Amino acid sequence: METLQAGSLTDFKEKVATRQARVGIVGMGYVGLPLALLFSDQRFRVTGFDIAQDKVTTLNKGGSYIVRILPEMIQQAQKAGFKATADYSEIAEMDAIIICVPTPLNEYHEPDLSYVTGTVEAIAPHVHEGQVIILESTTYPGTTEEIVVPRLEAGNKHGLKVVRNAGEKGFHVAFSPEREDPGNETVARHDIPKVVGGCSPIASELAAALYGTIFRRVVPVSSPSAAEMTKLLENIYRCVNIALVNELKQLCMRMGIDIHEVIDAAKTKPFGFQAFYPGPGLGGHCIPIDPFYLSWKAKQYDFRTKFIELAGEVNINMPYFVIDRLADALNEHSKSIKGSKVLVLGLAYKRDIDDLRESPSLTIIELLREKGAIVSYNDPYFPSVGHGRHYALNMTNTPLENLGEFDAVMIVTDHTNYDYKAIVDQAKLVVDTRNATKGIVSDKIVRC
Ligand SMILES: NC(=O)c1ccc[n+]([C@@H]2O[C@H](COP(=O)([O-])OP(=O)(O)OC[C@H]3O[C@@H](n4cnc5c(N)ncnc54)[C@H](O)[C@@H]3O)[C@@H](O)[C@H]2O)c1
Repeated sequence: METLQAGSLTDFKEKVATRQARVGIVGMGYVGLPLALLFSDQRFRVTGFDIAQDKVTTLNKGGSYIVRILPEMIQQAQKAGFKATADYSEIAEMDAIIICVPTPLNEYHEPDLSYVTGTVEAIAPHVHEGQVIILESTTYPGTTEEIVVPRLEAGNKHGLKVVRNAGEKGFHVAFSPEREDPGNETVARHDIPKVVGGCSPIASELAAALYGTIFRRVVPVSSPSAAEMTKLLENIYRCVNIALVNELKQLCMRMGIDIHEVIDAAKTKPFGFQAFYPGPGLGGHCIPIDPFYLSWKAKQYDFRTKFIELAGEVNINMPYFVIDRLADALNEHSKSIKGSKVLVLGLAYKRDIDDLRESPSLTIIELLREKGAIVSYNDPYFPSVGHGRHYALNMTNTPLENLGEFDAVMIVTDHTNYDYKAIVDQAKLVVDTRNATKGIVSDKIVRC
C-alpha cells in the first residue's frame, strides 16, 4: 500500500485533491461516524476504528446505532470504500488519522483522558512518516503537546518524531475541535467553520487541506493549545450564559415575571444579545463537562476560574430546583412526592436526539425515587434504559396512554413530536421545565 513519502506537503495535498488519501477515524461515535460519512461523501476511502466490536460489526453489516444516521447512509459510504475495524495495525495504511474518542470527567470531576491516551498508545507503533494525526476530542489546552505528541513519539516503532520545522522528517500533529450541534438542522455541517491548530505551520496546512474538502471554511490558529482553548471558550460561554438565565428564571418566578417573555423581548435587539434558555439542568457530553477541563488545568497555573465554578453551581442545582417546584405543585393538590406517580416526559439531554449522556432527566429520576415517588418515563428515542456510567434506571418506556393515572407529568425534554395540548388535556398536573406548553392556557400547568 503506497503511503505519503517523506513528509511531503505537495504529495499529501495531491493525494487529498485526487481522493487517493486514506482517512482513518478513531472513535465511531456521535462525532466520528458523521465525520466519516462527510469524508466518504467526498469520495475518500474511509476506515473507522473502534474498540467496540459490536459497533464495528453493525457498521460492516451496513447498519447504524445512531438514530439520525440511517443504515442507507452507511451502505452508501460502503460503496465508496468505507469499512470499520478494531484492528489498529490498519492505521499504517492511512494518510490521515482523526481521533474522536470520549473525554469525560472521572468520579472526582477531573479530566479522564484514558480514552485519548489508550488510543494514542495503540496507534503510536503504526504511525509512519508524513502521516497527519489530528485530535478532535474536546480537552484542556496543552493536551496535544503534553499528552498526545510524547506518547506518539515514545511508542513509534520507527523512532519517528513530530515535525516542527520545514525539511524535518517525521509525522504531523494538529488539534481541531469538533463543533457539531446534534439535532440542529439550521446549519449544515459543512457550513460550520473548522478551526485547526498544528504543532507546526506545515501540520496546520496539511490539516487545513484535508478539512477544506468537507468544510467551506477552515480557520487556522497558531497552535494546538489555541485550538483547544477555542473550543473551551465556546462551551464555557454557553455554560455561563445558561447559568445566568437559570438564575434569572428563579428570580423572575419569585417576582411573578415570565422569563421566557423577557428573553423573547430581549432577543429582538439586533446586536449585543444572544438568547439562551433556562431548563432543568445541563446535559450532553460537552457543556456539563468541558468547562471543568479548563478549571482543572487552570489550577496548574495557580488560577481559579470563578465564572466556571459559579455557573457549575447554578446549573448543577437546577434538577433540585425543578423537583422543589414539583413538590410545591403536588402540595397544592394535597399530595406529597412520596407515593405520587410521576411521569417524566423526555429523557434525552435535549430535544429530538437519542443521547442520554449527562441528561438532567437521570438526576431528576434519581431524586424522585429517593423521595419515594413512583417514577415512569416516556421518550420515543429510548424503548428501554438500563444502567450507565453514572446511573441505573432499568426502566422501559411508558406509552402515552392513560396520562390521567399519573399525579404529575414533568416535561424534562421538549421533543417536537409530542402533542403538548393533548398531554395537558389528559394529565392532572403538568410541570413544564422547558416552556414546551407555551401558548397553552390551563391551570394544570406549572412552568418552572
Ligand atoms: N457529541 C457531541 O455532540 C460532541 C460535540 C463536540 C465535541 N464532542 C467531543 O468529541 C469527542 C467524542 O465524543 P462523542 O460524542 O463522539 O463520543 P461517543 O462516546 O459517542 O463516541 C466515542 C467512540 O470512541 C470509541 N472509543 C473509545 N476508546 C477508543 C479507543 N481507544 N479506540 C477506538 N475507539 C475508541 C467508543 O467505543 C465510541 O464508539 C469527545 O471529546 C466530545 O467531548 C462531542
